[in-house]
Amino acid sequence: MWAATPFAKLTVSYMGRIARLLILFLLLVIVVTFHFFVPIVNSNFRESSAPSGSTIAHSVSRTPKKNVSFVRDKTPRTQKSSAKYSQYLGERNDVWGRTLPADVQMAPRKTIVNVGFFEGYRKTWNYPTLFQPPLSPRICECFKENDVKYYANVTLETNTSRTGMYGILFFPQDVSVKQLEPHVWDAILMTSPHYQRRIYATFEGAAKLKFLALDPPYDKKVFHWSLTHHSKSEFTMPYGYYSPFSKQLSTLGPKKNWAGGRTGLVAWMSTWSVTTWKRDGFVNKLQKHISVDMFGERNGRKRCPRNSTECEQKIRKYKFYLALENSCCSEYISEKFWRTLLWDIVPIVVGAPRESYERLAPPHSFIYADDFVSIQDLAQYIFKLHKNDTLYNQYFEWKEKGEVFINYPDLHNTAVTSREPPKTFFYSCNSVCKVSRKYLDEKPDTVRNNGEKLNNSSFFDPKVSWWCGSCTKCGKHDWIRN
Ligand SMILES: *[C@@H]1O[C@H](CO)[C@@H](O)[C@H](O)[C@H]1NC(C)=O
Ligand SMILES: *[C@@H]1O[C@H](CO)[C@@H](O)[C@H](O)[C@H]1NC(C)=O
Ligand SMILES: *[C@@H]1O[C@H](CO)[C@@H](O)[C@H](O)[C@H]1NC(C)=O
Ligand SMILES: *[C@@H]1O[C@H](CO)[C@@H](O)[C@H](O)[C@H]1NC(C)=O
Ligand SMILES: *[C@@H]1O[C@H](CO)[C@@H](O)[C@H](O)[C@H]1NC(C)=O
Ligand SMILES: *[C@@H]1O[C@H](CO)[C@@H](O)[C@H](O)[C@H]1NC(C)=O
Ligand SMILES: *[C@@H]1O[C@H](CO)[C@@H](O)[C@H](O)[C@H]1NC(C)=O
Repeated sequence: MWAATPFAKLTVSYMGRIARLLILFLLLVIVVTFHFFVPIVNSNFRESSAPSGSTIAHSVSRTPKKNVSFVRDKTPRTQKSSAKYSQYLGERNDVWGRTLPADVQMAPRKTIVNVGFFEGYRKTWNYPTLFQPPLSPRICECFKENDVKYYANVTLETNTSRTGMYGILFFPQDVSVKQLEPHVWDAILMTSPHYQRRIYATFEGAAKLKFLALDPPYDKKVFHWSLTHHSKSEFTMPYGYYSPFSKQLSTLGPKKNWAGGRTGLVAWMSTWSVTTWKRDGFVNKLQKHISVDMFGERNGRKRCPRNSTECEQKIRKYKFYLALENSCCSEYISEKFWRTLLWDIVPIVVGAPRESYERLAPPHSFIYADDFVSIQDLAQYIFKLHKNDTLYNQYFEWKEKGEVFINYPDLHNTAVTSREPPKTFFYSCNSVCKVSRKYLDEKPDTVRNNGEKLNNSSFFDPKVSWWCGSCTKCGKHDWIRN
């Protein structure tokens, strides 16, 4: 009603008509401005209203944006709002320095995935060089695709109120910690966006983590992926690995006698660690049949500091090494074994099932103790190899076919280094970027595990048959078993 009077007056004069046209024009301008700019303003507003500091990049459009400066962004509005957690640090100028239109400025030239290492368990890190980010947060430059650069922003997080900020959240598992209590999980799950991927990550063998397994219902809804030494994990970090050459090395010339210059028979480096079988008893029994020299820091042994080259030099004079694992779980072949191979010694193993060694170790590189029906038989076999260099050397034929690498940064023996830097070093941009890549590839809005539709079987349950469920009593034969 308030507008009726001025409009009525305007109609009476010619000038009034021009004014009315002007007003209509202004109205049109307002409508057009409103239509085209408000959505952008809104999406900006939504971005900044995301949880504080939120820069979780997810499901961002990864189509080439090269030509976009001349084409209107046709992304449906729903998709735009679904990207409300994305941080577009789009460069504001094109390659010629011209200012780009507003919607082009939004193009995801850079995308940052927020990665958290959740450490709610304790205040200190047990693995100073492995888990601890040197500086937190840390930006990893991951990869470039279609002109878009992807980064990971890694943060050590201890506050459950902030876990919802991360697209990827690592939960380092460690024997020295207790599993999080239900109310802590509840807090984390309540604030987690559906596209968040939580990762069970550990260096340990399953046997040690068995007691940390989650109780129902958390075992079916907490972890999406796992990062362990086991090949069934989404992300695998074995302690070491065998890599066959693409073609066998030429075997011209005299073959090396690997038995040459050895002064000792069987060596063992004892440790204090808890075992799920009678490892010390095994060694004591073996000693009754064959000479076994013990190294390490325990009383009455051939003392040498565990991480010294001194120890390495002494042990390398032996023909055999007891690579006895503390537990017997699928694929649990620790750095003890890989280190022995790098030292050019034949490992005598008790540990993972034979199939695991056959699959992962170099061919004919180890003596599997459980193959023998008695400890006498094992001792006799060792003695037979000791007396026959031809037989002993057969355990080194694999060296013409491939090579071995140690991944595990050997905290106890810095003298051992693999020729390559560790490929899957746990806290490294390499692994963080690998996880980020999978995360982005499985664009969480269309992913197989679309958050709302996740079912029990698509979560990682630490009790699964290939992980904690795979740990058994060691040995099929009673002489190892009892
Ligand atoms: C860029 O867009 C123009 C006009 O739509 C098109 O003719 C041209 O092929 C495009 N160039 C590239 C590299 O896509
Ligand atoms: C990285 O993450 C931290 C903590 O979450 C945040 O304060 C910082 O602004 C982020 N950096 C970038 C460049 O996104
Ligand atoms: C945890 O984070 C929340 C939200 O950022 C903050 O209000 C609270 O003070 C933090 N708590 C601690 C102990 O830092
Ligand atoms: C999922 O797991 C919960 C608790 O472990 C169980 O009660 C429920 O029946 C399971 N649902 C399906 C579909 O298997
Ligand atoms: C051996 O380990 C000790 C502590 O475990 C460390 O202080 C020392 O620097 C290590 N020595 C070498 C040569 O790395
Ligand atoms: C050593 O073993 C090889 C292969 O089995 C055999 O041919 C050879 O006769 C053995 N040598 C001795 C001295 O027993
Ligand atoms: C549950 O998830 C698995 C693996 O993602 C899938 O194969 C299966 O069809 C799903 N089951 C249901 C009932 O959604």
